[in-house]
Amino acid sequence: MGGALLGQWVRSTQYAFTVVDPELESVPPNARLVRDADALGEAQFDTIIVAVKPQLIDAVLPAYAGRLSESGLIVSIAAGYSADRFRDIFAHAPVIRLMPNLAAAVGKGVNGLFATPDVSAEDRADIVALMSLTGISIWVGGEDELDRVTVIASSGVGFFFEIARSFVAASERLGFNRNEARDLVLGAFAGAAELARQSDLDLETLRNNVTSKQGVTLAGLDQLRRDGMLDGLSDRTLQAAYARAIELR
Ligand SMILES: NC(=O)c1ccc[n+]([C@@H]2O[C@H](COP(=O)([O-])OP(=O)(O)OC[C@H]3O[C@@H](n4cnc5c(N)ncnc54)[C@H](OP(=O)(O)O)[C@@H]3O)[C@@H](O)[C@H]2O)c1
Repeated sequence: MGGALLGQWVRSTQYAFTVVDPELESVPPNARLVRDADALGEAQFDTIIVAVKPQLIDAVLPAYAGRLSESGLIVSIAAGYSADRFRDIFAHAPVIRLMPNLAAAVGKGVNGLFATPDVSAEDRADIVALMSLTGISIWVGGEDELDRVTVIASSGVGFFFEIARSFVAASERLGFNRNEARDLVLGAFAGAAELARQSDLDLETLRNNVTSKQGVTLAGLDQLRRDGMLDGLSDRTLQAAYARAIELR
């Protein structure tokens, strides 16, 4: 995820990015790659961006505690790991938690942003400008809301892949080869999503507009919606992901 963001962020030339990663083979040409905290010498940074797995943070980050400059900012993309826990490591530094999604890699991300009250207006504006290179951003007022954004926008990418995979498999059983099925399903879904985004109509109206009485779409929808199955499944999916996010706090 960090690589997807960096790939877009380096388009902004006003920042010098240093990437710390023990194994990564390369970074974009205008970023610097080092292996660990020791390789940074005495350097201090205006912003430290945390993009390791949440379960690694307690082991990895203390080595960087002295690396944040006076009035420096912590930015984290780690799911679940709270701002207060970063403040324990970085002596009460201001924290912005970002919740990006992988579509940032193609500039189509949806990002949730949360800032602790001590983050300056300038830092907020700088991060919004960086995130605008990756997609759209939504500020949230609290970390619980950020967790709820996570299950929809970040995990949502995974949910979409699973739904699309299932439709591709069903399309294959209908007689298409894997590539044809993939092109048809992703084309239909991406086109429908773009149509909906550009329309003022609500989703029910858009659905009704492509569903004629006793027609082909209705026959399929009758299965998709049978016994409220789809709504129940959507609820259970998001609730389970949200419950897991709460466990990880
Ligand atoms: N994946 C998503 O869709 C998504 C969405 C929103 C937020 N996030 C958040 O993004 C973070 C990364 O998730 P991911 O799925 O991108 O995981 P990932 O692919 O495993 O990325 C973690 C990165 O951290 C590096 N790393 C491991 N140990 C390190 C160390 N000691 N010092 C510096 N770097 C180290 C890894 O390097 P190596 O590969 O060399 O070990 C890897 O580049 C997580 O906190 C996650 O909650 C992910």
